[in-house]
Formats: sequence, structure tokens, C-alpha cells
Amino acid sequence: MHIQNQVFLGDSKEELKKIPSDSVDLIVTSPPYADQRKKTYGGISPDEYVQWFLPVSDQLLRVLKPTGTFVLNIKEKVTNGERNTYVIELILEMKRQGWLWTEEFIWYKKNCYPGKWPNRFRDSWERLLQFNKSRSFHMYQEEVMVPMGDWKKTRLKNLSDTDKTRDDSKVGSGFGKNISNWVYRDKAYPTNVLHLATECNNKNHSATFPESLPSWFIRLFTKEYDVVLDPFMGSGTTLFAAKKLKRHAIGIDIVPEYYHQVMNELQFEESYLFEEKSTYEKSSDK
Ligand SMILES: C[S@@+](CC[C@H](N)C(=O)[O-])C[C@H]1O[C@@H](n2cnc3c(N)ncnc32)[C@H](O)[C@@H]1O
Repeated sequence: MHIQNQVFLGDSKEELKKIPSDSVDLIVTSPPYADQRKKTYGGISPDEYVQWFLPVSDQLLRVLKPTGTFVLNIKEKVTNGERNTYVIELILEMKRQGWLWTEEFIWYKKNCYPGKWPNRFRDSWERLLQFNKSRSFHMYQEEVMVPMGDWKKTRLKNLSDTDKTRDDSKVGSGFGKNISNWVYRDKAYPTNVLHLATECNNKNHSATFPESLPSWFIRLFTKEYDVVLDPFMGSGTTLFAAKKLKRHAIGIDIVPEYYHQVMNELQFEESYLFEEKSTYEKSSDK
């Protein structure tokens, strides 16, 4: 089976209408942040951000399969010494739109630049908001397991009596942790904090995310030949990660330069997703 890619040039709000309903397994994207990158590809004012995004998320809700997941990388900026609230407002509006806000992952930027600000410390993390259409979405947790590391040498060697029994009484959540279950294992499930370095590379784009970021979510939420979408693809990081992991990929960007760059790099293969096969008339030429 071929890996198929499709790239659209234009405004996501419109281009998404070309994608069939319930056809995408995973959406991973980093939209333009409010006001931040006016000089490169336009910014949206923080006051207008939610209303700007909702028609896009409405289309994303339509194209995502009921078993699919939407991961939104976003971080509110600071204006007049205060954090903006548009991300919080967006979450509330998306819930009204029909999304379930399932989880929030943190992307901790291990290599964030040092700096000094009068009233805050350097910002070294971004949100990765997970939204779903239903509570039973596909998740392949074994694909992102991590080595046990130091836990095995220290904490797991000295287990208390509580650690050896299922400990679910304190929070009453019904989800207990019997830590002794993990003593002889080499791998554990990760936390919801991703420790990844930012990438300042030569991709000709000012806001790329590291390929390891979409890769992690692609492995967690899809299997081979599933369909991954990035409606604000920029330099195409999500699409290249998907391709390497043998997933079909769809990308959209409004800037012709990014569109052409991604098209060239993907080295378009013959097939386009969702496009009906053309029938060619036989030529009479010998
Ligand atoms: C933060 S960047 C994405 C970077 C990307 N994750 C990468 O690794 O290169 C956001 C992208 O959204 C694009 N964009 C802005 N408004 C758009 C719109 N209305 N429709 C489609 N793309 C848009 C910009 O051109 C920009 O490339």
C-alpha cells in the first residue's frame, strides 16, 4: 500500500471543506498564535482569536473520525503584564461546539533560551490540548513507553506496605496504583509532560516544532496507514513525521511559499487522497 499525501494552498476554514467527513484519524497542529508573528504570516488579535478559530475547529470536528483525536499546540501570550485568556475561552467554546477536552499535555522545552524579565521567569513550556469527539478514541499506549530509569534503582527498591497494595482509597478515584507491579519491568508509561528540545533549523519557517512532537502523538493515536492532518502545516513537520511512520498525511497552509516547499519536499507520488481516479481517453497517436 502506498503512503498518500495531499497538500492544499489556502485558508484552512475553506480548504477543510474539501475533506470528507469522518475521514481523519489524528489532527496535530500549531496555528498562528495571537498577534505574535505579524511580520511573517499575519497574526490574529487576541480579542478576535476565538471567533477566528471556531469555524476551523467546526470543520475539524466534521472531518475527524469518531475514534480520532485532535492535538492543539497553543500558548497564550502576555499583554500589558498579564496572560491573555483566549486559550481558556477557546477551550470553553470548543466544548460548546461539541468537543470533549480530554487531556492537556505540556511540551517542556529543554533548551529554552536563558533570559531575564522584570515580573516573570522565562517561559519554557507550551500547551498541547487534546480534544476528542467521543470518549472511546483509539490510543496505542505501548507505542510510547519509556525506560524505567532511576525509579527502578531507588524508589522501587524500597517499597512501603502501602506501595505493595492497591492504593486507591486516598482520592477515591477508583484508579489505584500498586507500585510493586512495576518492579520487574523495564518500561513504564510516560507522563503527560513531554521533554523535547525546540528546533532552530534551516526549514525556512520561523515557528517549526520539533519532529519528535508530532511523531509522539502519531505513534500514540494512530497506526500505519491511518490519516494524519495538519491544517496549519507551515514547513510540513507533521506531514514528514507521518510519512516516516507510514501514515497518510494531509496539510494546509495559506502561504504559497510554504505550500510549494512542502510539495517539493514530499516528492509527490502519483496518488492523491480522496481524489477520484481520472479516466484517460486512449490516444489515437501512434
Ligand atoms: C505556527 S506555524 C506552523 C508551523 C508548523 N508546525 C511547522 O512545524 O512548520 C502556523 C502556520 O499557519 C499558517 N496559517 C496562518 N493562517 C492560516 C490559515 N487561515 N489557513 C491556513 N494556514 C494558515 C501560517 O502560514 C503558518 O505557516
